[in-house]
Amino acid sequence: MTPDRRIIVALDCDHREAADAIVERLGEDCGSYKVGLELLTAAGPALVRDLVERGKAVFLDLKLFEIPNSVAGAVRAAAALGVSMVTVHGLGGTGIMRAAVEAARDFPQLRVLALTVVTSLTDADLADVGVHATTGEQVLRLARLADRAGCHGVIAAPAEVAALRGVLGAGPLIVTPGVALPGDGPTGHARPGTPGAAVAAGASHVVVGRTVTRAPDPLAALHRVRANITP
Ligand code: C5P
Repeated sequence: MTPDRRIIVALDCDHREAADAIVERLGEDCGSYKVGLELLTAAGPALVRDLVERGKAVFLDLKLFEIPNSVAGAVRAAAALGVSMVTVHGLGGTGIMRAAVEAARDFPQLRVLALTVVTSLTDADLADVGVHATTGEQVLRLARLADRAGCHGVIAAPAEVAALRGVLGAGPLIVTPGVALPGDGPTGHARPGTPGAAVAAGASHVVVGRTVTRAPDPLAALHRVRANITP
């Protein structure tokens, strides 16, 4: 089956063999993977290079929040691995996001995505750190900032996708984690939604982790995600 590149499977594993087993099981049906800090730290960049060599698009979720010079260096290192997407924190502000975008300019395959508000956070969590806006307001504020800084898109929860599409227009990517299929157990997401609802609202991609990777049959679960998006 031709992979649906809108579906990015999160390889949230603590060792390489576990990640390899998922990639093997999903085979040609999955074309895109997210590698986060856990797997990158445990398995190293060779895993990312190998995924790219197998023809997979890799979303390297570095969640950069550093001085601009260091952000630029990390983006160049990610680009050298051949990844397709890398993340920077919108909360870091314009200077950090511009540094990431500038660093990616020589690598046309690389999209820089800004993280808005991590999907597990609530309005009360924001207030605790001195942000007196609702999560919805903060997501829109950071998305506008990211767009003006030249980012290629944003990461956002399903509930914010429609409003973001309205603000950003048709062009930018909206990549949506925090999704689960109806009937999935508790996922720890404060603002969950289904993959189909996220795409219908305007998400360009969905990130699906445990729904697929912890399923008794990951390939069947991936097919259910696909069917949920394109009934
Ligand atoms: O919950 P799930 O296993 O589908 O998570 C997949 C990815 O979505 C994780 O790697 C994480 O980065 C992201 N996520 C998130 N907010 C959450 C839970 C997961 O952004 N509350």
